[in-house]
Amino acid sequence: MNEPNIHLRTMVSADWEEVAQLIHDSTNAWYQGRGFEPIFQNGPGSTRLFCEVYEGLDPGCCVLAVDAAQGRIIGSCFFHPRPTHVALGIMNVHPECFGWGIARKLLLYVIDQAERRDLPIRLVSSAMNLDSYSLYNRAGFVPRAVYQDMLIPVPDEGLDWRPAGWERVRDAVPADVPRMVELEMSVHPVSREQDFRYFLENELDIWRVSVLEDELGQLHGFLVSVDHPGSNMLGPGIARDADVAAALIAAQLDHQRGRSPVFLVPTDQVELVGQLYRAGARNCELHFGQVRGADRPATGIVMPTFMPETG
Ligand SMILES: CC(C)(COP(=O)(O)OP(=O)(O)OC[C@H]1O[C@@H](n2cnc3c(N)ncnc32)[C@H](O)[C@@H]1OP(=O)(O)O)[C@@H](O)C(=O)NCCC(=O)NCCS
Repeated sequence: MNEPNIHLRTMVSADWEEVAQLIHDSTNAWYQGRGFEPIFQNGPGSTRLFCEVYEGLDPGCCVLAVDAAQGRIIGSCFFHPRPTHVALGIMNVHPECFGWGIARKLLLYVIDQAERRDLPIRLVSSAMNLDSYSLYNRAGFVPRAVYQDMLIPVPDEGLDWRPAGWERVRDAVPADVPRMVELEMSVHPVSREQDFRYFLENELDIWRVSVLEDELGQLHGFLVSVDHPGSNMLGPGIARDADVAAALIAAQLDHQRGRSPVFLVPTDQVELVGQLYRAGARNCELHFGQVRGADRPATGIVMPTFMPETG
């Protein structure tokens, strides 16, 4: 295929099927081309989830690269403007067009959106993927945190891992949202009330939000999960310390019997990582939390996710 003449435009609902196919084919081609398992194993019907969730959260925040001659969509990038930052969501280019500068064009569009708002951009990118690392790094993103992607196969009868504080975990209610926002802002510079309200409304019936409170009713952590054929993950989550994070992870896993959701843990949280190994966790990938613009180090445990991408 010759390099096409490309124009950028915003995604509309009529594009969802084509974008879902692109996300599926592009991501799987990249990983399979390097000898890894395909990421999306449930067909392009499952990756429609990205369009559905992201348009529900941030209507009009997906930029497409279109081959002007054929009208074919050959690139897509979602983004999530928040009061503190812009989060960059999943970025995909058609495998036939890798290396043509299409992702760079999409990224420059999102950078322009963030600069107009004078906000940093945050994302999580695979440490195994030098193409995406280089794309972002050359555009001014700096890796600020390293996460290990872990998973624990949860047997049908549940895990026998019951870390201290587990009994203090409960399902969140809308009244918890202001305290979740406050807790997150005290730990790292991210505010995203609309995400928490969206999870709790749970129109798609795929989210679970857990919180951990002490006996005085003070919030020490929260952890969200998504359970869908297109994405089965724990996160986003925030915890004051390793014990709180372990209790939240164990409680969330108890609702995932028969499944193996992936979750991201900061590599410098040695105590938490040790607890997870003892509970049977295995590593499956590494990710960088990258920021373009202002950042400050986390004062607690941050558990990012790819659904929705947070950084
Ligand atoms: C990652 C991906 C989006 C890149 O798309 P692309 O259109 O091929 O990327 P581009 O052609 O715009 O290249 C990006 C930049 O990285 C540079 N680059 C690539 N590999 C590099 C390397 N090893 N060292 C230095 N720079 C490198 C390119 O030169 C280019 O920079 P430039 O424009 O300043 O010259 C594409 O491979 C893809 O869709 N992969 C599957 C899905 C995925 O992994 N998405 C990202 C995670 S969400």
